[in-house]
Amino acid sequence: MNNTHINIAVLVSGRGSNLQAIIDNIENGTIPDASVSLVISDIKDAYAMERSKNHGIDAIFVDPASYPDKAGFESKILQFLKEYNIGLVLLAGYMRVVGPVLLDQFKGRMINIHPALLPSFPGLHAQQQAFDQGVKVSGCTVHFVDEGVDTGPIIIQKCVPVLEDDTRETLASRILEQEHRIFPEAVRLFARGKLNIEGHKVRVIE
Ligand code: GRF
Repeated sequence: MNNTHINIAVLVSGRGSNLQAIIDNIENGTIPDASVSLVISDIKDAYAMERSKNHGIDAIFVDPASYPDKAGFESKILQFLKEYNIGLVLLAGYMRVVGPVLLDQFKGRMINIHPALLPSFPGLHAQQQAFDQGVKVSGCTVHFVDEGVDTGPIIIQKCVPVLEDDTRETLASRILEQEHRIFPEAVRLFARGKLNIEGHKVRVIE
């Protein structure tokens, strides 16, 4: 049993509904061993920043345009992560590919949520890719981040059937409901020390 308290940082770019799900699950006691200490956005007016402030969480905008390259931008983020003694980084709708500056420090401690059943439909507009492909089942994936785009070791997946009368929007919204369940569950398992990365597989120890 791992009873260490973990400070979480959440990287966002947009509306922040997954951030909200994490905050809610911490506040209602489902994730007892962690707190969201910091939210970092690469978009100035992202609604996720608003949500953070509503819960008294520090929210910092780091402007990519202020840095010559990704390494400079990520070094600034890294400085904040160290300052806040962050033990786990969550990518919750963060629209950038993470580079070596962050990954070298947080590999195995950085988790992403993706709205498709990986390895199918990585990258942008995953729900639309799945819908346009005509698949009968889609879903969502929580995974550790590695050097690739949505390629890291998978922690949890949830299937969502594609219904005959679905549109991209209705499918995306049913997938989102499941994202809000499996992302907090993955964080709970991580915080309890229940996730072992073995090669490209994640073993959940109960
Ligand atoms: C989610 O669908 C997530 O899977 C994807 O980006 C979207 C972010 O939504 N990576 P939100 O900002 O958490 O509401």
